[in-house]
Amino acid sequence: MSWESAVSGDAVTLRASPLESRRFGLSFSRAEVPLAVEDPDAALSSVLRFLEDDESDVVVVRHPAARVGWFAALRGAGRDLVAADTLTYWRLAVGDGRRPTPRESVSTRVTDSPEASLVKELVSDMFAGYGNHYLANPLLDPVAALAGYVEWGQRSAAEDQAVIVSHADRGAVGLATMQTSDRVSEIQLAGIRQQFHQQGIYPHLLAGCEDAVLESGGELLVISTQAHNTNVQRSWARYGFEPVGAVSTVHAVRRGLLP
Ligand SMILES: CC(C)(COP(=O)(O)OP(=O)(O)OC[C@H]1O[C@@H](n2cnc3c(N)ncnc32)[C@H](O)[C@@H]1OP(=O)(O)O)[C@@H](O)C(=O)NCCC(=O)NCCS
Repeated sequence: MSWESAVSGDAVTLRASPLESRRFGLSFSRAEVPLAVEDPDAALSSVLRFLEDDESDVVVVRHPAARVGWFAALRGAGRDLVAADTLTYWRLAVGDGRRPTPRESVSTRVTDSPEASLVKELVSDMFAGYGNHYLANPLLDPVAALAGYVEWGQRSAAEDQAVIVSHADRGAVGLATMQTSDRVSEIQLAGIRQQFHQQGIYPHLLAGCEDAVLESGGELLVISTQAHNTNVQRSWARYGFEPVGAVSTVHAVRRGLLP
């Protein structure tokens, strides 16, 4: 769920999700409730009605994590529920980042047209085995989920821009894709190839993103991940990001489908 929908938005979104339907061979919809929703009770009622009326096999529900009673309430809609973790959202005022000491062997570049094959290679490596919300649902193929991440990375890099971090001897070792609107830049997918973890490369990638936002006159750099991903949240806290909110994910599955 994008920053724009989760944090800066205030409207409930109920919609079909054709991309996910194609990817997994089941019909998908989305019901998304932002953190600042004006009338939470009305929002819950509209989500419940949607879950009852919508014919999709899986409705991915996103709701403010602070509404801790909603999981139990969603049971009233006659679907089977799968708890699929919580997204945490973080922000950095650009210019305030605690940048790493520059290293001769590590460089970053910004591009608005990264090769699709490079994005595929990097994202497949970075996110292999990553505990995304699809993996919570036994109906969904983890290989298709990873392919979805690749497709998402390629699309977001092509629509806006990407920052690639390279090592002098090893070439491209990590990537961040970013989308910008209204002076807010959101890092969508970011990581470092697994064999280069724990070498202090990721903060250079974050600095490359911050530079790109500074250059384009942006004010805020924002990012999100699953709550279980504490490694990356430590990196963000060290760099100077602060947490601003949490949104829980629930898969509401049509009865009779789950084993
Ligand atoms: C999370 C992720 C980006 C971190 O990348 P990284 O390059 O390994 O990050 P760093 O090297 O800066 O830091 C990782 C750890 O190594 C330590 N480290 C840094 N340099 C080191 C060195 N030279 N020797 C030993 N350890 C080192 C850091 O202190 C940090 O320690 P911590 O675990 O106590 O926090 C990477 O694991 C990743 O790509 N994960 C999958 C994708 C993902 O989760 N993306 C976020 C959601 S979009």
